[in-house]
Amino acid sequence: MARTSTASLREKKLQQQKITMLTSYDYFTAAMVDQAGIDMILVGDSLGMVVLGYDNTLSVTMDDMLHHTRAVSRATRNSMVVGDMPFLSYHISTQEAVRNAGRFIQEAGAQAVKLEGGVERVDTVKAILDAQIPVVGHIGLTPQSINQFGGFKVQGKDLDTAAKLIEDARAMDKAGVFALVLECVPTELAKRVSEEVSCITIGIGAGPYCDGQVLVINDILGMFTGHIPKFVKRYANLQPLIIEALNNYKQEVESGAFPASEHGFTINEEVLERLYGG
Ligand code: KIV
Repeated sequence: MARTSTASLREKKLQQQKITMLTSYDYFTAAMVDQAGIDMILVGDSLGMVVLGYDNTLSVTMDDMLHHTRAVSRATRNSMVVGDMPFLSYHISTQEAVRNAGRFIQEAGAQAVKLEGGVERVDTVKAILDAQIPVVGHIGLTPQSINQFGGFKVQGKDLDTAAKLIEDARAMDKAGVFALVLECVPTELAKRVSEEVSCITIGIGAGPYCDGQVLVINDILGMFTGHIPKFVKRYANLQPLIIEALNNYKQEVESGAFPASEHGFTINEEVLERLYGG
């Protein structure tokens, strides 16, 4: 099976086949996501919240992102790996944005990068595309703008924010992104945008009419203790299973039930004899 490419994703959109995307941050999880046939793996800056224990994504650095993207890339054969550009890695200058986007490809093995923003990021997107790096846009609720939004809120419910969302979608599509994440956007608005733009739309809290869907893997597997947004569907609840396993381990070590003889290694009696005498 060939790795997912921008061309194969475009073909899926044309054929009206839904596109799947999940986040991953480590080798083991990414290998499972890859095996499950998920089209795209996003090494999201949600890393900051679900793996590194920050309150939001703003503290995540390029070094953090490259470290985790490398691990994910080593595990994948089929899924396209998208590196999420962290806060301040593409805001200072287009030159710095291109350099940082290039590091995801050259040093971390990603096939594309994602960045947040609309109209104000057009030049940045164009510069990165000019370096032959495919770009995924991200509009609607963009977590790196949390201080500007004043919290994690649905975007595009009123006239002004809906008009801004449409303007951002058009600008990103025209700039040349091959995919556009729509986060926390009313279903009907996401439908209209998906019908209009030529790039792939990938929804998260944006209803069923986008070309694809993305979710944070820790949320769908029940491996996160923070706030779980309304749009998440939990497909497994691993946290209680893991805690039960850990409790059993503790109890068995303390009681002496673990390790049993089958978990140990034998030594020839004669060797022992020679070491300690008879
Ligand atoms: O960082 C992330 O995981 C994301 C997705 C939620 C789209 O940006």
